[in-house]
Amino acid sequence: TKVIVVNGPNLGRLGVREPDVYGHQDLETLRRDCTEWGRQLGLEVEVRQTDDEAEIIGWMHRAVDEKTPVVMNPAAFTHYSYGLSDAAHMVTDAGLPLMEVHISNPAARDAFRRYSVISPVATGTITGMGFYGYKLALEAVAHLLAE
Ligand code: DQA
Repeated sequence: TKVIVVNGPNLGRLGVREPDVYGHQDLETLRRDCTEWGRQLGLEVEVRQTDDEAEIIGWMHRAVDEKTPVVMNPAAFTHYSYGLSDAAHMVTDAGLPLMEVHISNPAARDAFRRYSVISPVATGTITGMGFYGYKLALEAVAHLLAE
């Protein structure tokens, strides 16, 4: 089964951006990790990143049409994009898993990070576990697909 791992704005700067918060590893490393974790679970993982709200929304529409489960780190869109929230809702409404991941624990940071417009429409949310959170999310997808 194909699964898309979608990363939102500024996550192309992993490794350079606030390494104390997001770690020293870059997006390429995340891509390799997720591909390998997927392989172990029998999932064909495609890792994507965009800074563009229209593009990430389009990816949700395509996921619905192609029945593709989603792992998503919406990054800053988490906190304000009702457009992405509505698009993510379409994915779970279609009966597809959508796991929300955050590398850091947003609840322990700035006040504006405490609310997620994605969590209410996600299947589940994993926070604060670094890149390992993506592994947990892929395991959750594999579990949900096997159910
Ligand atoms: C993030 C947390 C968000 O608050 C922030 O805007 C990000 C990354 C995380 O992975 O911890 O860009 O989603």
